[in-house]
Amino acid sequence: MRALITGIRGFVGTNLEKELYQHGYEVWGTTRKSCPITDSTASFSRIIPVDYSSEEEIMSIINEIKPTEIYHLAGQSSVKISWDNKVDTLEVNIISTVRLLEALRKSEMAQTTKLIMIGSSEEYGAIDNGNVAIKEEDILRPISPYGVSKAATSLLFQQYVRVYELKLVYARPFNHIGPGQGMGFVTSDFAHQIAKIEKGILEPVISVGNLEAQRDFTDVRDIVRAYMLLAQKGDVGEIYNISSGEPLSIRYILNVLLSLSYRKDIEIQRDENKMRPSEFPIYIGNSSKIRDHIGWKKEYSIKQSLQDILNYWRNLV
Ligand code: GDD
Repeated sequence: MRALITGIRGFVGTNLEKELYQHGYEVWGTTRKSCPITDSTASFSRIIPVDYSSEEEIMSIINEIKPTEIYHLAGQSSVKISWDNKVDTLEVNIISTVRLLEALRKSEMAQTTKLIMIGSSEEYGAIDNGNVAIKEEDILRPISPYGVSKAATSLLFQQYVRVYELKLVYARPFNHIGPGQGMGFVTSDFAHQIAKIEKGILEPVISVGNLEAQRDFTDVRDIVRAYMLLAQKGDVGEIYNISSGEPLSIRYILNVLLSLSYRKDIEIQRDENKMRPSEFPIYIGNSSKIRDHIGWKKEYSIKQSLQDILNYWRNLV
């Protein structure tokens, strides 16, 4: 099996790279030309710097590598950033996806390669009843610019399956977390500050945003296993939620991280800059489709994920 991962040097890409390599895949990846290639890269996979705005360049990479599977991870993944950079988010997430779809459609691999597209639970947006777990067929009413960009890729997915009969499968993950995730996402933001407080670099005050939101968290290591299984067993033209089905408040996440810290004197301070113009109070995902059809279920507990994330930041700061 030969996999091509777009955005291989990102948080999810590096985890997927490991998972596929451990399962005997030959792994190739693309990165932006501006992204430096490090030594660790070379051990697992072959990396090709690419200009994502060039359909021809992407097509010639597909023709050259002839991947059995493509995982499209390249994009702008922060909901918070999308509020400040609306145009960039829409451009990067929608237009680059069209370019990849066009490149695949015009390539020699159009009828052969399976492409796993990655959406988001943010596509659902203003759902009718937050206490009921969201299913794949529920209406998309995105609130954030990021959610809009991903809802658009859902429409592109349906169009390219119907009109061009490409072999596409659509993954819709809920919040995913783990060691290696960058700053700007909630568990990293909290763990990073706690690690700095423990080392005496920061005063014992942790700055937070909206603690009342409830989200459905899954470890990135479970998420990438789901992507691989979808490439192997997912039905073409189908959308699959990936979630734990267990809503947790951000306050609970904070409390678990604080309980894992050596410091017992940390104060909590709300930062208005971390609040968003709008967000839905609760998301719960229904992942029975991927469980029943594909046999995926999560293995990492939330406590394990948070412990690993905190240890990651302790080693880094
Ligand atoms: N980032 C951040 N930092 N979020 C905070 C903070 C903070 O200090 N304090 C509270 N929050 C709240 C946010 O308001 C949000 O309700 C929740 O924590 C999760 O925020 P993020 O971790 O930034 O994730 P997200 O839900 O906006 O988006 C993530 O999940 C999507 C799937 O639902 C990203 O991973 C997306 O790429 C992904 O598609």
